[in-house]
This record gives sequence, C-alpha cells and structure tokens, in this order.
Amino acid sequence: MSEGKLLISGGTVVDPSTKREGRADVLIEDGKITDIQPSIAARNGLRRFDASGKLVMPGFVDLHVHFRQPGREDKETVETGSHAAIRGGFTAACPMPNTSPVMDHRGAVEWVRQEGQRVGLIDVRPIGALTRGQQGEELTDFGELFEAGCIALSDDGKPLLSSLLMRRALEYAKVFGRPVIQHSEDTCLSAGGVMHEGLVSTTLGLRGAPSESETVMVARDLALAERTGGWLHVAHLSTARSVELIRQAKQRGVHVTCEVTPHHLALTDEAVRGFNTLAKVNPPLRTEQDRLALIEGLKDGTIDCIATDHAPHTAWEKDADFDAAPFGIVGLETALGVCATALIGPKHLTWSQLADRMAIAPARIAGLKDHGLAVSQPANLTIVDPAAAWTVDPASFASRSKRSPFAGHRLTGKVAAVIRHGLVAWDASA
Ligand code: DOR
Repeated sequence: MSEGKLLISGGTVVDPSTKREGRADVLIEDGKITDIQPSIAARNGLRRFDASGKLVMPGFVDLHVHFRQPGREDKETVETGSHAAIRGGFTAACPMPNTSPVMDHRGAVEWVRQEGQRVGLIDVRPIGALTRGQQGEELTDFGELFEAGCIALSDDGKPLLSSLLMRRALEYAKVFGRPVIQHSEDTCLSAGGVMHEGLVSTTLGLRGAPSESETVMVARDLALAERTGGWLHVAHLSTARSVELIRQAKQRGVHVTCEVTPHHLALTDEAVRGFNTLAKVNPPLRTEQDRLALIEGLKDGTIDCIATDHAPHTAWEKDADFDAAPFGIVGLETALGVCATALIGPKHLTWSQLADRMAIAPARIAGLKDHGLAVSQPANLTIVDPAAAWTVDPASFASRSKRSPFAGHRLTGKVAAVIRHGLVAWDASA
C-alpha cells in the first residue's frame, strides 16, 4: 500500500520524540522516512507536498473512540469513523468494546481489525472488554483478546465496580504488559446524574453527578494498582481532585497513565445551560476550576495524553429531552482545533507539548512502535496549519453523527493533511 517517493517541503517539523523543532524537509520513500534535513533538493520522480507555513508532526493517535460496530451502524461504522479520524489528523485510533455484541471475544476483535484494514485509512487498534458482556461479573479471556490484537482492556461506558475483579484484572493484564482502562465512576454515587452536580444543575433542576463519583473510584483503583503493580490507565479525567490523586500516585511510582478529552479541556458545565443535550457527556463537563486543573495536569505531564472519547449518536437520540438523551460528544474532527484554541492560543502548552500529548504519548501507551519523525520510521505524519481560523460546521463532518457542542465555534489551528504509510491519506485543500 505504500509506494513511491514524497518530499514534504518547507514545513516546520515538530517532533518531541526526537526533540526536533525547526524548519526541515522530510523525504519519504516506500512508506518510510529516509531523510530529514533543513533543505532537500527536489529530484526527478519525487512528488512534492508543499508544507510552507505548516507544522509537520507525528500522526495523532486516539486511545479512545467509539466506532459502534458491530451493532449500531446507524451511529458510526469503522469506515465512517476512520474517515472522521483521518480528517482529524489521526493515523491510529482505538475503538472501545461497548458495541453490540460486546467486543469480549476474539471474533469481534478480529472483525473490527480486519474491517479497519479493509478501509485502509488508519490503524484500527481495538480495546477488548474487561468482563463478559461488560456485565462486571466475569473477566474475559485476556490471553485470547491480547492475542487477537487488543492494545488494552476496558468496560468503558461502565466502570468495573467490583474491587476484587479490578484487582484480578490488574494482576492478569500485568502478565501481558498492557493496561486496564477504567471508566472511573462510582455509579452508586452518581446515581442517575445527567450532568455535573453544582450550581448549574441546581439552577436547571437536573440531577447531578458529584465530582466524588469519579474521585473515589480513581482513589480505589490507584490503591489496587499500587498493590498489584499492574498498569492502570484512567479514561477521560474530569476533576481537579483526580488529577491531584494521580500526580501523587505517580510520585510514589504507581504504574498509572491517564487521558483527558478536548471537551473537558475547553468546556464547563455552563455549556449545558439551555438544556443543551450536545453537551451531555459522561463524565460530565465540570467547573472552571476543574478545567484549569486538567490543563495544569496535561502541562506538567500528570495527564499523559489527549483522547477524544469520540461518542457518536443519532440526531433523533441527541435531540431528545435532556434526561433521555444519551451521553456522548463526537470529537475526532474538532480535536486539533479545539485543543489548539484552548491550549496553544492562551499559551498553556507549546506545539511540541501538544504533539507529545496527541501523538507520542498515546502511541507509547497503545504500544505502537516507531512512532515519531526519525529516519527509517514509518511515515505517519500530520500536517497542521497553526494559523488557519475556521468555524465548526458539523454538516461537513465525515462522522455519521452531525451533532457537536462546538458547532459554530471559531477555532484557530486546522489539520491540513495527513500522510500515512508514505501516501497522502487526507488533503484538506484537495
Ligand atoms: O459520554 C460518553 N459516551 N461516555 C462514555 O463513557 C460512553 C460514551 C458512549 O459510548 O456513548
């Protein structure tokens, strides 16, 4: 699938894995990077991609997406999700197992992987279920799922409530050197909450989920990770206290990694006012204090990476009344713009830090080898126009879900093109 020679010329290479940041041309031959120099002369037979004024970064990796296949093809498919991902600058994405049937066995995992290969736009690296049917009662066959190509296991959408099963899961996954991904929510405490419990929920008269429904679970799992030495990955962090708990745990040497979504970095529970179901998500959007603590955690490395939790739903479901609408925000096609606007504009993060949190760190957690812009590595690159200002129009999304709380938002920073295996897989100008 990779062929020929391609010269990415005139861009600024930003690659935290090699600590390179500066003007450079990138030569790609037969799908691999073969040279990176301040200037590479154009030759016969060399196709040229003009990256002048653009940033050339390693391909983004999304550790947390919902492609809804098998079972809910009306919401998304591996194919439509792959198109959304490549337009968002992602060269790899990891679909969660809360499908129908649940991805809790080899057949489902292999089918999703093969479908990803058939579509051929991104690397689709599934995450298998932790428990059978995601029922929280019996662990799946970890050996079978890892052998089938899962990069991690999770019951995402639901927490694994049993402390004993969580302990066993951490011990068992440790044998394979892979993480257990927890959707941290004490559902006894969140008790049917549909948004963050606070001033806005009280004003709107909506049932709230307190911050502690997340933090008590994070605290429990950190204790279990410390006890077992297993690798805990905490999905979609939303509270300041969770960040603090993980910061302290990392200092003690606990094997924990974690992620934050673009929407938790950019929005607060204020977005729910007007009973806006587009901002209904789990964990819920929280307070400005939480948002700033998440940014601080991302900046100091407590939070390892950004993951979209791309959660497509049909329009008829999202347009229901607030209590009935499903949780979930689509994020693949807005991730870079939202993050650049929320993080780079206000100078919270540098482009190099953003490239680390969107590409290098998630690739490391997913176990993807050779991800970065170095000679002899696979040519998976995302080219970003840092100055492009644009308005989010969900009607133009490749995702099957056209509902987004960012509709109409003005963003600065846009994915211009994506090179995968040495070929131009997406070119926004084409
Ligand atoms: O908002 C969410 N939507 N949070 C989850 O944990 C699951 C996801 C979904 O599958 O729709």
